[in-house]
Amino acid sequence: MHTLSIKELPIKGHKVLMRVDFNVPLDKQGHITDDTRITAALPSIRYVLAHGGALILMSHLGRPKDKKVPELSLKPCAERLSQLLGIPVAMAPDCVGPEVEKTVKALQPGQVLMLENLRFHRGEEHPEEEEAFVSALSKLGDFYVNDAFGAAHRAHASTATIAKFFPGKAAVGFLMEKEMTFLGEALKHPKRPFCAIIGGSKLSTKYGVVEALMKKANVVLVGGGMAYTFLKAQGIPIGNSIHEDEFLEKARQLLQESGKGRGRLVLPKDIVVAKEVKEGADFKIIESAKGIPQGYEGVDIGPQTTASFAGELFDAKTILWNGPLGVFEIPAFARGTNAIAHVLAELKAVTIVGGGDSVAAIQAAGLADKFTHLSTGGGASLEYIEFGSLPGIEALSKVEAVR
Ligand code: 3PG
Repeated sequence: MHTLSIKELPIKGHKVLMRVDFNVPLDKQGHITDDTRITAALPSIRYVLAHGGALILMSHLGRPKDKKVPELSLKPCAERLSQLLGIPVAMAPDCVGPEVEKTVKALQPGQVLMLENLRFHRGEEHPEEEEAFVSALSKLGDFYVNDAFGAAHRAHASTATIAKFFPGKAAVGFLMEKEMTFLGEALKHPKRPFCAIIGGSKLSTKYGVVEALMKKANVVLVGGGMAYTFLKAQGIPIGNSIHEDEFLEKARQLLQESGKGRGRLVLPKDIVVAKEVKEGADFKIIESAKGIPQGYEGVDIGPQTTASFAGELFDAKTILWNGPLGVFEIPAFARGTNAIAHVLAELKAVTIVGGGDSVAAIQAAGLADKFTHLSTGGGASLEYIEFGSLPGIEALSKVEAVR
């Protein structure tokens, strides 16, 4: 059995209701600052239009909390998509209701309609309490396609519940398939050595992923704020560094399991420490084993760590990276993250980056095209690596492998 694919749908002359993740960053004037998630959905969008389908797109944007928030309208996304496609993209006044139904009915093959932000309605995030919402949404298409990988970890009306209204007609889009290939298949059967790099500030948000990766990878390199929880767990002074006392025991357990039939956990050998987390702050490099002095906090991996991480990476055939290795928003403390991004960009290995800040760091360094796969999912990519599936994928139609 496999998940039904968009390629298997008889699209011609039908209406395709497609969930995309157009939850893009906006500046204060409401302009899109990064359209990666829109461009990433283009293959599925173009496929439907080229195969004679009429396309109804639905997405959330931000967290409007069940209210109509004009600043979170999907209009800028419809406009950007129209520019990218070179055809008009009509904007619906809402995502359900008689007016929307009328517009959808009149929609012709090759035309696109963008529905308004799903999260303006409570039913989107609480489908079990508001069945009428998901039922109304489901009436807008003959087929359902989920290409919203970034939102596939949410069991919401448009990402999961809706699929039951499309028995045998709920398919996966090309972006979702690509994400499943690289974050799923490629990591389930990795070319070895398989090396994972995990950063970010909190161990609490990534504990499950670190544990899962220690079972799959040969080595797990740890940087970012979470490294200080591991150092404290070993009794090393960490000064004013960010850490989570409630995760010290879990960190200790992971350190004990390191290398024992599992991947080796490698912590920074040296650290950049600063008196303040701001550009121009006084900083120095210290050896991790000696501890971080009082009045200082860890802000980046040091040069010895960068060199030893690079040594591990040179041998690897598969590399997964998630999370920055320092406070990368501040250029002085982004050196470790940037250096590792440049090392990865030069390697022949399969290089997969699991969404969020690490993708932003790679894009800022102008290295995006040097990587095998940059995920469009933040939380979704972490949960997919940890659990091997997501509610938005589970809900889709399963079909026999040989037809
Ligand atoms: C994301 O940006 O991670 C997704 O679009 C999901 O958004 P959410 O965290 O608001 O559910």
